[in-house]
Amino acid sequence: MKVLETTDLEQKFQDKIDREVKIEPNDWMPDAYRKTLIRQMSQHAHSEVVGMLPEANWITRAPNLRRKAVLLAKVQDEAGHGLYLYSATETLGADREATIDDLHSGKAKYSSIFNYPALSWADIGAIGWLVDGAAIMNQVALCRCSYGPYARAMVKICKEESFHQRQGYELLTTLANGTPEQKELAQDALNRFWWPALMMFGPNDDESPNSAQSMKWKIKRLSNDELRQNFIDATVPQAELIGLKVPDENLKWNEETGHYDFTPINWDEFWQVVNGNGPCNKQRIDARRKAKENGMWVREAALAFAEKRKKKQSA
Ligand code: 3HC
Repeated sequence: MKVLETTDLEQKFQDKIDREVKIEPNDWMPDAYRKTLIRQMSQHAHSEVVGMLPEANWITRAPNLRRKAVLLAKVQDEAGHGLYLYSATETLGADREATIDDLHSGKAKYSSIFNYPALSWADIGAIGWLVDGAAIMNQVALCRCSYGPYARAMVKICKEESFHQRQGYELLTTLANGTPEQKELAQDALNRFWWPALMMFGPNDDESPNSAQSMKWKIKRLSNDELRQNFIDATVPQAELIGLKVPDENLKWNEETGHYDFTPINWDEFWQVVNGNGPCNKQRIDARRKAKENGMWVREAALAFAEKRKKKQSA
């Protein structure tokens, strides 16, 4: 068989992408495709794992057993999403330990939203409704990602995210229909989480260094701005339905475009948080490093057991 020049290989690869043929782990792929997928998928996994921290804080302070059980289930789901995505990243040749070390060293990113504190019980509702709501908007599109393992992981994860979003919205609905103090708690949570939730979709398209290529390779099926706009259009009516006001005085339905107009995002705040200067960045990474240290004995015991069993089997 003629040894295909890389350019021929890349052209054949792009033709596959254009024909909506899924790329699988053992298929030939450009190094840059592999690299950007490892970047995005590992950071997605980091986001799931760090995302457990703000909510875990409230498990022991949930107002009743039902709420505690729901929150426990959600946090456990997030851990599973993280493990699922770390495993999907390994199908590209990424090393799990090195990937996690990149998070702890600050080399890898995770979603900026998780660097904001969960200050009240209403925040747990806002996180479910807005953060998981934004994640769903983004992840439903990723179900059509060109890389097979990532797309398939998203199908399972989106099913669980829908429960996360509904339980958060129901929690806020309960508060918004409660006493004036409870309604105020719900409004305060919306005020603090609305803008960081919009930032989850990433910079504006013309400021995004990765989007153009990710769209060409059908990793991204909708752009950052399209997904953000879809999220706003879907979420504003939900806020209005429970009597909450989205904290944006320029928010206005535009009959011509069929979308909400909104105030431009404060990208200085976004990059401050992404670059490590958010309210909780240090606390979050310290917690992850501590979790790794505290769990070391479990990993060592499991490895010792596996080693012993391997020796026994080969004896
Ligand atoms: N927080 C931190 N970093 C962000 C960010 C955010 N909200 N948005 C963008 N960035 C980073 C990007 O990672 C990129 O940096 P890098 O090149 O060093 O990785 C840089 O800013 C420029 O952004 P781009 O738009 O060019 O980057 P992408 O094309 O990768 O798009 C993305 C960013 C939309 C977040 C995309 O990576 C993506 O879709 N990721 C998968 C979904 C994901 O990670 N979601 C995070 C939340 S998960 C979650 O909330 C789970 C829920 O269950 C709690």
